[in-house]
Amino acid sequence: MPTLTGKHVLLGVTGGIAAYKSPDLVRRLRAQGAEVRVVLTPSAARFVTPLTFQAVSGHPVRDGLWDASAEASMSHIELARWADLVLVAPATAGFLARLAAGMADDLLTTLCLATGAPIVVAPAMNRLMWGNPATRDNVARLAARGVRLLGPGSGEQACGETGEGRMLEPQEIVAALALPGAEGPLAGRKVVVTAGPTREALDPVRYLTNRSSGKMGYAVAAAAARAGAEVALVSGPVDLPAPPGVRVVPADTAEAMRAAVQAELPGAALFVGAAAVADYRPAHPAAQKIKKKAGAMTLELVRNPDILAEVAASAARPFVVGFAAETNDVEANARLKLEAKKLDLIAANRVGADCGFDREDNALVALWADGRKDLGGGVKAELADRLIGLIVERMRASHQAQDS
Ligand code: CTP
Repeated sequence: MPTLTGKHVLLGVTGGIAAYKSPDLVRRLRAQGAEVRVVLTPSAARFVTPLTFQAVSGHPVRDGLWDASAEASMSHIELARWADLVLVAPATAGFLARLAAGMADDLLTTLCLATGAPIVVAPAMNRLMWGNPATRDNVARLAARGVRLLGPGSGEQACGETGEGRMLEPQEIVAALALPGAEGPLAGRKVVVTAGPTREALDPVRYLTNRSSGKMGYAVAAAAARAGAEVALVSGPVDLPAPPGVRVVPADTAEAMRAAVQAELPGAALFVGAAAVADYRPAHPAAQKIKKKAGAMTLELVRNPDILAEVAASAARPFVVGFAAETNDVEANARLKLEAKKLDLIAANRVGADCGFDREDNALVALWADGRKDLGGGVKAELADRLIGLIVERMRASHQAQDS
């Protein structure tokens, strides 16, 4: 059955060689039932003519802000409102930079600013351009704002080099779009996610904390929402916007996070603990600022509750997923945590000075009682989609095992 029936897809095409695949993308989107309107940037029109897109989409193509007759029939604001989804494929490095900067200097960027619809981009560029810190920054900013990235894939490039930067194939793009929302695999299910660090007060102006940007947890919450779930994200103090469709419940300390999780848990089908909860807190936080004295100072710390282990031990437990950030013996340490905390699955990653923290990309290995899956590397948004896909598979497998 067509999976995009009745969906209004606004396809933006920017000026990269991969644009030659975009007419095929239009054809495949329409085959899934979508209505497609195409907007070209001026440089895209150098690669593929508007006429080609008009023929395959069945609608006139827009390629500028200043076409008075096109504006009269459907203004750019109407077009932005018409869209249920804005898909930009291929998205060049230049386009990603302009989108990240919030520019509105051509029709496509203007539409992206004016639309309330989700934006999905399929980047395509030379591998060095994709790896450039400027592009990494732009991609991070876009992902943090809820823009969904599809790919890029790796392989042979038009420039003759081999590496990451190829646009995903049209059929892969359509398959990725056809999943989410009300028909997603987690539709109708409640998911609770923890993310970010906790802060454990020492006195009114000082605290103990863990190093954590919260990005992985936020990406997991966003991926669960894309899979159709109702998501409560219990979040320590981080500098990230709420992902689209996700309800954020702020919690500063481990004890506040535990209370918020307990309140959200009834009815949840899945709990993912991605927060970097402080294992200890000061035993006697001072009511007033502690003054320095000569000599050393000893802090007395007491254990914080283990939120993840408590959820796993609760009577009506959901499917429970933890994270293990390890500097060494990653899989062996993660498997110990999986067993000690009685989790259904654990996602392990290596952390250290050069990986894991405050970055947009990561690499994960998932472990469960009798299996493992390498989820590979990639931007956190994409890894989170893969992790949620695997969790859905494992949830189904464990229900089948319980039923038989
Ligand atoms: N976790 C939790 N509550 C805590 C501590 C950790 O929910 N008080 C969760 C984290 O969200 C994560 C997992 O447990 O999913 C991490 O396990 P943990 O054993 O606490 O990791 P570390 O703190 O890194 O443990 P260690 O220092 O022993 O390696």
